[in-house]
Amino acid sequence: MGEESMGEEIIGSEESSNRRTSPAAFFRGFLREPRQVGSVIPSSRFLERRILEASDLANAKRVVELGPGTGGTTRTFLQQLGQDANLLSIELSPFFHELLGEITDPRFINHLGSAEDLAEILESHHLGKPDVVISGIPFSKMPEPVAIRVAEAVKSNLAEGGRFIAYQFRSDVARITDPIMGSHDSCKLEMRNIPPMRVYRWFKPTAD
Ligand SMILES: C[S@@+](CC[C@H](N)C(=O)[O-])C[C@H]1O[C@@H](n2cnc3c(N)ncnc32)[C@H](O)[C@@H]1O
Repeated sequence: MGEESMGEEIIGSEESSNRRTSPAAFFRGFLREPRQVGSVIPSSRFLERRILEASDLANAKRVVELGPGTGGTTRTFLQQLGQDANLLSIELSPFFHELLGEITDPRFINHLGSAEDLAEILESHHLGKPDVVISGIPFSKMPEPVAIRVAEAVKSNLAEGGRFIAYQFRSDVARITDPIMGSHDSCKLEMRNIPPMRVYRWFKPTAD
């Protein structure tokens, strides 16, 4: 799908644009846990488009989102996924987790917990290894041992040939993840977001 047509789908959807404008709820979540949330407003549609370009969700069957927040990104990912795919979103904030309960899509699994526990969370939902993991959690603001455990959990639990996408303001995610997953394959800067974000991608090699 070309960039323009993909943009129209996201921007032109009344549901996605209504849902995306939940900055007040997002800001309330930020005030509760500023370091954990990391941003004061949700991701822009321009950043979401960059994430989609890196993710190839149309061909994914099992997707995990780390840090869905108020669910703007979650709804955008669901729009791109096939009917036989599913999306497990793992959110640490009980406040955001409750808001995410408004998403009634049967392909969506709303889990309250930490990304560090990815293996146990997948098992608890009887899910195999995901093709794609997409993360918005702020690696630069987390204690470094936690950030390392998240990167290790992603590497161990991603399917072979799978991809890990992380959108971040700072480059700490690459400093932490490159030694664990190998060098990132791409990094694209999106200025039309507050703050500007880099979208990193890693591939997990196949065994042969
Ligand atoms: C920058 S917000 C991203 C929200 C949303 N995906 C977006 O782009 O608008 C980061 C989110 O990660 C969550 N988070 C932080 N640490 C986490 C962890 N260890 N496990 C799961 N979620 C976490 C925060 O509570 C917050 O909702």
